[in-house]
Amino acid sequence: MAQNIYDNPAFFAGYAQLNRSTQGLDGAPEWPSMTKMLPDLHDLNVIDLGCGYGWFCRYAREQGAQEVRGIDVSAKMLAKANEMTDDSKISYCREDLEQLKLPENNYDLVYSSLALHYIVNLSALFNSIFHSLKPGGKFVFSAEHPIFSAPMQQGWLTDDKGQRSWPVNHYQAEGNRVTNWLANGVIKQHRTLATYINLLIDAGFTLHRLEEWGPTAQQIAEQPALDEEKERPMLFLVSATKS
Ligand SMILES: C[S@@+](CC[C@H](N)C(=O)[O-])C[C@H]1O[C@@H](n2cnc3c(N)ncnc32)[C@H](O)[C@@H]1O
Repeated sequence: MAQNIYDNPAFFAGYAQLNRSTQGLDGAPEWPSMTKMLPDLHDLNVIDLGCGYGWFCRYAREQGAQEVRGIDVSAKMLAKANEMTDDSKISYCREDLEQLKLPENNYDLVYSSLALHYIVNLSALFNSIFHSLKPGGKFVFSAEHPIFSAPMQQGWLTDDKGQRSWPVNHYQAEGNRVTNWLANGVIKQHRTLATYINLLIDAGFTLHRLEEWGPTAQQIAEQPALDEEKERPMLFLVSATKS
């Protein structure tokens, strides 16, 4: 059973303050890169794994998707999604991605933004996603980058010359990482980039694009807090196909 930290009141309240909560997709700096990986959504049957407030579900419908299903383990996130959605072609469902069973040969696009680094049994999930896609269907996702998730104690280090660096120790030691982001004791899963890629290949996917996201100069000029994100990739984005 997943930890479901988003139902923790302190975590949920903190998450509600983030730009990606208050501004939606435009508040997520990686969104311009994600959109480039997406197919034309017109007429597609779409599922969003770890849909949160449902921003992507609503976007997909605005772009002409036929039907969209949003899955999340958090009752609070789904309550917010339902509150913000008025569309009979979007359905939200409370399920744990660790045990998710998807219908076979059903979706044109499986999408997931920043949820998969919470999942322990990623191999089972990737297999299920592969079988749920129609031939030619796409899987597009983002997750925390393994360089970001590697250290047991996540945070910048500053040397005696004032130079900041991000520790990448324990990179090969996959498994739990416990952080105190928005609440104490948040459990995420660290795995190497090779593991992510090989799990996709083993599930049968053809990889199209891997991006180690960093902000553009323009994004930094508009939002100086993003400057440190150019020092190491915090996120990676993948687009893969069931060929
Ligand atoms: C960082 S939020 C991202 C929300 C949304 N995808 C977005 O980009 O705005 C991660 C989401 O994944 C969900 N999540 C984490 N672990 C999950 C699990 N095991 N099963 C289903 N959802 C999960 C959380 O509840 C949360 O809503």
